[in-house]
Amino acid sequence: MHQVQLTTPAGACEILVGELLSSRLQMLEQEPVLMIDENVLVQHHDLFEPFRSVIIPSGESYKTLQTVEALYRELVTLETDRSTLMVGVGGGLATDVAGFVASTFLRGTPFGFISTTLLGQVDASIGGKNGVNLDGYKNMVGNIRQPSFVWCDLSLLGTLENREYVSGIAEVIKYGLIWDIPFMDFLEESMEALLKQELSVLEHVVTTSAAIKTDVVQKDEKESDLRKILNFGHTIGHAIERHKGVLHGEAVAVGMVLAARLSHLQGLLTASEVDRVERLALSAGLPVRMKLDPEEIYQNIRKDKKKSGEDVHFVLLKGLGNTIIRPIPLPELKSIVYDLC
Ligand code: GLY
Repeated sequence: MHQVQLTTPAGACEILVGELLSSRLQMLEQEPVLMIDENVLVQHHDLFEPFRSVIIPSGESYKTLQTVEALYRELVTLETDRSTLMVGVGGGLATDVAGFVASTFLRGTPFGFISTTLLGQVDASIGGKNGVNLDGYKNMVGNIRQPSFVWCDLSLLGTLENREYVSGIAEVIKYGLIWDIPFMDFLEESMEALLKQELSVLEHVVTTSAAIKTDVVQKDEKESDLRKILNFGHTIGHAIERHKGVLHGEAVAVGMVLAARLSHLQGLLTASEVDRVERLALSAGLPVRMKLDPEEIYQNIRKDKKKSGEDVHFVLLKGLGNTIIRPIPLPELKSIVYDLC
């Protein structure tokens, strides 16, 4: 088992990676309440059935304040109090909702996560961002509160659909591109084993991803500056995801390749480095291009901008393993999107 410790002024989180769940569940000191994704409960009924639980409906359309309110009411019915440990169980969607409920109910109860998807284990469950969508805008309402633990049981990944598992690899590739060239080399060498979920490779990949994210979050928990680099590939990725019905990681993969091409257009990345980014994503079985309508993409980015003020903060690669954030005013962004798509 591997351990990564995340510590910020606001809290501390122990991230554990390995095949650990059956032993760990028995070690929970008090009677917890699980907030569990409905599909995960069905799939792993034997593991989670002994615990008191409330169900988080599966699917992005349920990531709403209505769901949060329904969960508060169920917690009241269960007579939980401020000392009750809440454990969010599921992928990023479930842990985002569970973290928000736990950190606001009774002004905040202790909480941790059991992360059941690759995307959740390497990204969503780490770093303390909790929240829900509002009127179609992603993560419009939320907070940053660290769970006290995140358990990443790798054996749970075996029951994921292949497409969902591969989608998580996009975020893994992102860490190599923005932060860690040796990790990128490792991914190039080990992609086949990663796709087969070979335990030692998977362990290294999840632990390294968690450690990189931890490093970034510890330096800038509130995303005033450095943490924005974790959005590499997401500016266009979110815009694609909004309309195309593709999975998050698939949209991010296309977004990363477009961001790499933009980095090249801005003189920050060589053409062969852009090829390398594209080849790595392709080797994972991720899409690297899609037929996109530039006007639609631009309008979607504009809508997303609602969250971030006047300029769009575009994360670009300044060489591999290094980033630069360029605030791009909307009119300029429009011509960039038309150039790229
Ligand atoms: N998923 C990006 C972040 O947590 O900052």
